[in-house]
Amino acid sequence: MADLAREQTVNKLDPSKAFRGKAKLKQLAQGDIVGAGQRGSWDPRACLVQLKGKTAIVTGANTGIGKFIALDFARRGARVIMACRNEARGTAALQEIRKRSGNTNVHLRLVDTSSLASVRAFVEGVLREEKELHILVNNAGASGLPGDITSDGLEVSFATNHVGPFLLTNLLLDLLKRSAPARIVNVSSVNHWRGVVDFSHFKGENLAYTMDSVYNHTKLHNVICTNELAQRLQGTGVTANSLHPGVVMTEVMRHYNFLVRFLFNLIGIFFFKSSEEGAVSTIYCAVAEETEGITGKYFDSDCSLVLPAPLARDPALAVKDFEFCERLTSKL
Ligand SMILES: NC(=O)c1ccc[n+]([C@@H]2O[C@H](COP(=O)([O-])OP(=O)(O)OC[C@H]3O[C@@H](n4cnc5c(N)ncnc54)[C@H](OP(=O)(O)O)[C@@H]3O)[C@@H](O)[C@H]2O)c1
Repeated sequence: MADLAREQTVNKLDPSKAFRGKAKLKQLAQGDIVGAGQRGSWDPRACLVQLKGKTAIVTGANTGIGKFIALDFARRGARVIMACRNEARGTAALQEIRKRSGNTNVHLRLVDTSSLASVRAFVEGVLREEKELHILVNNAGASGLPGDITSDGLEVSFATNHVGPFLLTNLLLDLLKRSAPARIVNVSSVNHWRGVVDFSHFKGENLAYTMDSVYNHTKLHNVICTNELAQRLQGTGVTANSLHPGVVMTEVMRHYNFLVRFLFNLIGIFFFKSSEEGAVSTIYCAVAEETEGITGKYFDSDCSLVLPAPLARDPALAVKDFEFCERLTSKL
């Protein structure tokens, strides 16, 4: 309890003390001091970083937060691979992004992150077609999916939100390393604080499907494995960070019942972020000069560097989790 209170206090450092300089942010990140970064004020449109000659992959780029991340990268001149599972929805978003950005070097590739075969096929295509990869954003995710087991024998929310993206990232590591400096950004959620680690969950055992509980576990694994990945990537020029995008008015509640969706949308009109605003912390981690070289950290929706939940700060658990996911994906 005291520990939680201390964490919460640390996470609520006076915004006026948040430092906005690149060097200071790096220094703070190395020292594990949180509360630094850009509290509420980082504006992607004021960030002049250009991505011409850079290649970026964004999963789940056809709607919600992912679409605005892809649009931002396209506007900066990147070659953007929109990794989507539905061809019709993906094509509609592709056309919109090309039109709004004026960048025709934006492409659609299909992937269903809940299927390891689909992830492998997607990566094979990327490795065949792309010489370099500088930014990988694992944004695709789903909440409130009904309990089900995929053809790989995995619980479907775990497969979609964690195991598929885990495999996708690992299969692209060599390409990312060859293209360094490169950045991996994993879209997690503040809900990871309510998750727990139980490896039987991956096969659908011992799970309670109450509201977003399964989703919360998957988002905790996102943060834990991002931190361990960052450790393994030390010295390669490839960074890995995770973040919370905020509470954002997207289609994220589509799997919940009418009443929950109604309440979410009603409250959301007044209090939640738009999809465009929800994309900001991801864009900050992926392109900002201030975050260059920062790795193994967790950012809040206002782009500040904050501590993740205690379970996501346990290095021994991180190694165990990462190795578990490696064994799981190497067998399937
Ligand atoms: N919205 C929030 O308040 C909030 C808060 C915290 C974290 N997040 C995280 O933000 C990320 C983006 O969510 P969002 O709010 O933008 O939700 P969204 O509007 O529902 O978008 C989710 C995206 O993920 C894709 N997707 C879902 N399952 C997939 C699969 N099996 N294979 C490939 N793509 C898949 C969807 O594709 P289809 O359109 O084809 O289904 C869609 O493009 C998620 O990781 C979510 O957990 C959101």
